[in-house]
Amino acid sequence: MIRAAINGSEHEFEEGLSVLKAAQSIGIDIPTLCHDDRLKPAGACRLCLVNINGQNHEAVSCRTPLADGMNVLTDTPAIEENRKWNLRMLARNYPLKAFQKYPVKQFHRLARSYGLTESDFSETGDVSCIDDSHTYISVDMSRCIKCFACARICDEVQGQFVWQVVGRGEESRLMPDSWGDFGSSSCVSCGACVDACPTGALEDKSLIERGVPTNWTKTTCPYCGTGCEMNVGIRDGRIVQIKPAHDSPVSYGHLCVKGRYAFDFNSAPDRITEPMIRENGDWVIVSWDDAIEYIAAMLKTIKSEHGGNAAAVLGSSRATNEENYVTQKFARVVLGTNNVDCCARVCHTPTAAAMKMMIGTGAATNSYDDFELAKTIIICGANPTENHPVAGARIKQAVINNGAKLIVIDPRKIELTKYAAVHLQLRPGTNIPLFNALACAIIEEGLFDAEFIKERVDEFAEFRSFATQYTPEMAAGICGIDAALIRQAARIYASEKPSMSVHGLGMTEHL
Ligand code: SF4
Ligand code: SF4
Ligand code: FES
Repeated sequence: MIRAAINGSEHEFEEGLSVLKAAQSIGIDIPTLCHDDRLKPAGACRLCLVNINGQNHEAVSCRTPLADGMNVLTDTPAIEENRKWNLRMLARNYPLKAFQKYPVKQFHRLARSYGLTESDFSETGDVSCIDDSHTYISVDMSRCIKCFACARICDEVQGQFVWQVVGRGEESRLMPDSWGDFGSSSCVSCGACVDACPTGALEDKSLIERGVPTNWTKTTCPYCGTGCEMNVGIRDGRIVQIKPAHDSPVSYGHLCVKGRYAFDFNSAPDRITEPMIRENGDWVIVSWDDAIEYIAAMLKTIKSEHGGNAAAVLGSSRATNEENYVTQKFARVVLGTNNVDCCARVCHTPTAAAMKMMIGTGAATNSYDDFELAKTIIICGANPTENHPVAGARIKQAVINNGAKLIVIDPRKIELTKYAAVHLQLRPGTNIPLFNALACAIIEEGLFDAEFIKERVDEFAEFRSFATQYTPEMAAGICGIDAALIRQAARIYASEKPSMSVHGLGMTEHL
């Protein structure tokens, strides 16, 4: 533990905190503009200034590690004056209209709280800084205060590297990687840069067009099974913006294009929003009470006349775990049937059954946090950056930041192939001989964990004599892959540990 005093009060802090995080942990608010908990500190805005040990210069608290015995002051008159001056400098060329129109933006809130007035801002906006070429995001670089949170989050969280900083100091500015308009860049529309921008220089078009949300609801994304958490902003009964939930232990304040921007289905004019009962061949709109009573009566009749097993319930992968839990509970407890099914059973049966047989459960044994711990990640028949983009972004970061080795097993060159140490580009339908060959190479080269196998694996001798028939040289002809590449992948997987294995429907449905 570290002992330090902040604003005259001594506390114990865990090791490894910055001065800013330490102050926040005891409820002391230090103003920030470029800081974002999802990012490495940049020290760009100089708003988080503090005085340490009475030195005659101030330190940026977001980048300064807390040390034992430190005496930190966060709000002396000199510090507050410096902050106000910094805010004034940022406001000089900043369009007044934006300051007036969006009072809740972080920069605008701080400017107001430090007593800046309308005369501190620029009367004229620079329309040449506006770029409306992107489908979802509006750019107005006259509102950019050069905190570069956008570029950092695009690099450090999404791993897309769209925003480039060109020039230096006062002259520095942001350019998309198209070196032209933003709409032609390699942006994948995760919206992270918009979420990180403290001014609205990058803004969701939906918010500009429909207005600032008046209510927020926290929920889970209804698209893929990653389970990202989101805050849904409503105005006049309509979704106007969706933002990532920063406190989510699943998605850590990140979303992909689907969760972030694909919400118009919710207010689509052809969406069914009222219950209907078919009468004499025609749909008749009824109240929810009538619909529920009708269904209850029908189910009661079916159950009493034919028993609970005459009914079945289908869950959905677009519902949350909690909703599916309640659905199966309803089937078992109320209807009295185990006839419960869902699309995952249809899609995933082969691998779920195999995993249940081998490791005791037909579900994932790892959590997403294991991506950050893995030294090797093997991905077979899955395209996470397209299908589960938030998980895909974490795999990219595991390679970029942690040096994890990636082995991609896929007939296609998926995006993650660019980051792979080995791409085993097998013929479709040859996963089984390939995995047998990987096992054969690991066994032949003595790379398996004999102790683990002795303690936890049954019938290893039988498996050994089976798998060693599939030498990489033999599987090479079946799979269409060079045997040396199969051996290289086997060596990485078995020796760069811990290793993690990810598979998707490309394997499950095309064994
Ligand atoms: S666009 Fe926004 S996030 Fe990016 S540097 Fe400018 S102010 Fe910061
Ligand atoms: S929306 Fe996402 S991918 Fe596109 S520039 Fe912003 S952070 Fe990068
Ligand atoms: S928040 Fe520390 S320098 Fe910007």
